[in-house]
Amino acid sequence: MKSESPRVAVLISGRGSNLKALVDGVNSGCLDMQIVRVVSNRNDATGIQHAKAASIPFSLIVQQDYPDREAHDAAIKKILTRDRVHLVVLAGYMRILGENFCTAFAGRMINLHPSLLPLYRGLDTYDRALQAGDRETGASIHFVTAGLDDGPVISQVRIPIDPGDDAKSLSQRLGPLENRLVVATMTLFCRFALKCVPGAVVYNEHILEKPLLMRHDGTFI
Ligand code: GAR
Repeated sequence: MKSESPRVAVLISGRGSNLKALVDGVNSGCLDMQIVRVVSNRNDATGIQHAKAASIPFSLIVQQDYPDREAHDAAIKKILTRDRVHLVVLAGYMRILGENFCTAFAGRMINLHPSLLPLYRGLDTYDRALQAGDRETGASIHFVTAGLDDGPVISQVRIPIDPGDDAKSLSQRLGPLENRLVVATMTLFCRFALKCVPGAVVYNEHILEKPLLMRHDGTFI
């Protein structure tokens, strides 16, 4: 990691397995970036332990300490601006960020979502895929806009839905692949190979016609 490596903030609300994957990626030398801040909106987020274990500066910013969403967002923005953050990763951050925050980090904020977007924005994505009789599901990483789980999709990983699968089994199979997807996608960011233009992703100077698809070994097709 060099001092000019991209400065990244990771926002979490829960388990933090994707934060842990990023920390491991940095520590193993495969990700040339610096995680300069972790923010949680929940004090019971177990992912906080990963930030502490890796000695990453950590902020707990909870809604009840602020009069409204805008003030809460502004508190996060102030910290990330002070930390000179280049890129924000929403890694299971289960709170909607307002338009001002999204505009401030437009093209510099990505979100992980457990569905093959544009399918199933919001919650209960596995159950909804099962109810619809889908033959496959997956995870997506997209640039964040003010809409819920909206914005141009950068990358995806797919798994088949087998007979007998339920939300738990899908989550168990997909979780490690989603962890791999975030590391693989961040590797492209660190090479400055990814950009966002209005409504689209630019990869290696070309507009992506469809999201990059990751093989299960972590390489892109
Ligand atoms: C991940 O599966 C991520 O896709 C999902 O939360 C989980 C966080 O896991 N995000 C969303 O549903 C956002 N709409 P983690 O805390 O172990 O990284």
